[in-house]
Amino acid sequence: MAPSASPLNQNSKFLIFGGGYSGQYFANEIRKLGCLALTSNRSKKNNEYSFFFDSSSNEIPAEHIFSNTTHILSCIPPGKNGEDPLLSKLQAKLESLSLEWAGYLSTTGVYGNTDGNWVSEKDTVNPLQERSKRRRLCELNWINSNLPTQIFRLPGIYGPGRSTLESIIKKNIKVINKKSQIFSRIHVADIANSIIYLLKNKNELDFHQIINISDNHPCSQIEVIKFSYELLGLNMPQTIEFEEAKKMLSPMALSFWEENRKVSNDLLCNKLGYQLIYKDYKSGLKNCLGLIKNRSKKLYV
Ligand SMILES: NC(=O)c1ccc[n+]([C@@H]2O[C@H](COP(=O)([O-])OP(=O)(O)OC[C@H]3O[C@@H](n4cnc5c(N)ncnc54)[C@H](OP(=O)(O)O)[C@@H]3O)[C@@H](O)[C@H]2O)c1
Repeated sequence: MAPSASPLNQNSKFLIFGGGYSGQYFANEIRKLGCLALTSNRSKKNNEYSFFFDSSSNEIPAEHIFSNTTHILSCIPPGKNGEDPLLSKLQAKLESLSLEWAGYLSTTGVYGNTDGNWVSEKDTVNPLQERSKRRRLCELNWINSNLPTQIFRLPGIYGPGRSTLESIIKKNIKVINKKSQIFSRIHVADIANSIIYLLKNKNELDFHQIINISDNHPCSQIEVIKFSYELLGLNMPQTIEFEEAKKMLSPMALSFWEENRKVSNDLLCNKLGYQLIYKDYKSGLKNCLGLIKNRSKKLYV
């Protein structure tokens, strides 16, 4: 049997709501395939590939932005009361477009605390933080919409320009030690490329509405920081024990330490066959270092 044509082709048009770090990265990867990708921001930009969308404004995107759209991706975090900023403004409009696909970037925060145990898509959600409860409400808004929704649950996102390397360079880091504390993470390139992989192979793969995207190596934050100092050729300062550090942390920073879980990528990588570009923080951070070296070369030529 001849393989069926990829559902992603040059007639595909993507609207990416929330053209921030992950949204812009995704747009750039999609454009490399010859598809049209427009991204939204809350400030007006003089660029034909971006458009204005701010849920706190009554201004909605012009009709030509929506015309011929086949796919949308929302990278916008929940509103203050748990409303989804995009659906609360544009759900009816988006439902009228007969979209092929509607992606939503969510967080693994909806799983809550598992005292370091693995979580998978099959687990019942149990959000602990208020922001994770709001996120779950948004997930439910998307699931209950009439859109062809697919939700991606993400742990800590890092990549070029946004990693522990930059935090060290900007002296914006505390080296905190908390016994048995595990975090999961994902390189931004793997967010974009795994979603593209799923879209390209949509006709052959089983559809799953909720998919975790995380790397193979959940580990302590201190392990990552130690490696980052080594990569930069700098000495790591003395560690601060968590009990001491918590007196200095903001409530937001503290809330991240209240949850301890390992996010499974078994569905994405084993069952659906996506091959991670950056399997762990070591390969991912080496990639991030490349950008830092390029920037500093430019500063000195
Ligand atoms: N960062 C992480 O480690 C992490 C981890 C897991 C999940 N997530 C979630 O994954 C998604 C993407 O993350 P990211 O770090 O790439 O996001 P980001 O860089 O912070 O970008 C967020 C985007 O949403 C837009 N936005 C925010 N509020 C809006 C509103 N009320 N109306 C319209 N647009 C709005 C922002 O507009 P402007 O461009 O104008 O600012 C920006 O383009 C987010 O939902 C985030 O919460 C993040």
